[in-house]
Amino acid sequence: MSTSSNFSLKGKVVVYIGGTGGIGIGSCKAFLSRNISNLYVLDRTYNEETIKCFQEINPSTKLSFLPLDITKNDEISRCLEQVICEAHYIDVLVNGAGICDERDVEKEIAINLTGPIQTTIKAFKLMNRNKKGRGGVIVNISSIAGLKPFEAKAVYCATKHGLNFKITADFYFKKTGITVLCVCPGLTTSPMTSKDVVTKGTFPYSAEITTDVLKEKPQTVDEMGEMLVKIVEINKNGSIWLCRIGTMEEIFLGMYEEPE
Ligand SMILES: NC(=O)c1ccc[n+]([C@@H]2O[C@H](COP(=O)([O-])OP(=O)(O)OC[C@H]3O[C@@H](n4cnc5c(N)ncnc54)[C@H](O)[C@@H]3O)[C@@H](O)[C@H]2O)c1
Repeated sequence: MSTSSNFSLKGKVVVYIGGTGGIGIGSCKAFLSRNISNLYVLDRTYNEETIKCFQEINPSTKLSFLPLDITKNDEISRCLEQVICEAHYIDVLVNGAGICDERDVEKEIAINLTGPIQTTIKAFKLMNRNKKGRGGVIVNISSIAGLKPFEAKAVYCATKHGLNFKITADFYFKKTGITVLCVCPGLTTSPMTSKDVVTKGTFPYSAEITTDVLKEKPQTVDEMGEMLVKIVEINKNGSIWLCRIGTMEEIFLGMYEEPE
């Protein structure tokens, strides 16, 4: 049975990787509306306007930007340890960086899958309430393409299926006090989707395969961000959430059972 407990964000330290991207901006705005104590925005891209706008939304939250390339393990360690050094705890870590570009398979896997796995493993050590942490919540941003085939972007789809990696057993929760949640956005208007989303496919001719995912009405990043933050507040360990067209729904994946 999964552990579920309402999680109050007030006074918490939130680390958002990919925080200057579209869904990152929508989600950081929603976190700021909860009176968190610290927001650490970690991203490869610095955007002064975005950071200024975050600070204006809630001047009482301490805001910091740390440059991070999630494909670099030493940078992950340096950034997360800097947060602990300055703010003492990480209460929420969001893995929200991602690309959708099949022209460089290794890079796509490194950013979308290996990076979030590395940050999760590192954060487990720093957030563990039986060590120096106080437990908390880790959110991995997968995709509707992590729940069903998205064949024009087969590698992206594989990385997003992989983001539902299982480090969610009660066994881990009891040892650490950390819950791990998986959020799967549907089509959301952002820089990622406003760039030609059907080009940069697995093969040059993959653009011919359009999918239902790309035909649906896009939601806004603000709608997506508000849902992500509500899912953190619900805090059901191991839960997977589909967030599309402005609505959220918990998804239960089938499990293969060994025959007796
Ligand atoms: N927009 C959608 O329709 C949609 C749907 C499903 C899932 N998603 C997922 O949501 C997440 C956010 O997507 P978005 O739409 O906001 O895209 P976006 O391009 O606006 O934001 C992605 C962010 O990731 C950052 N990033 C990229 N490479 C990085 C690296 N090496 N190290 C650190 N940061 C890096 C970028 O700088 C950017 O700020 C992604 O994981 C994406 O796959 C998006």
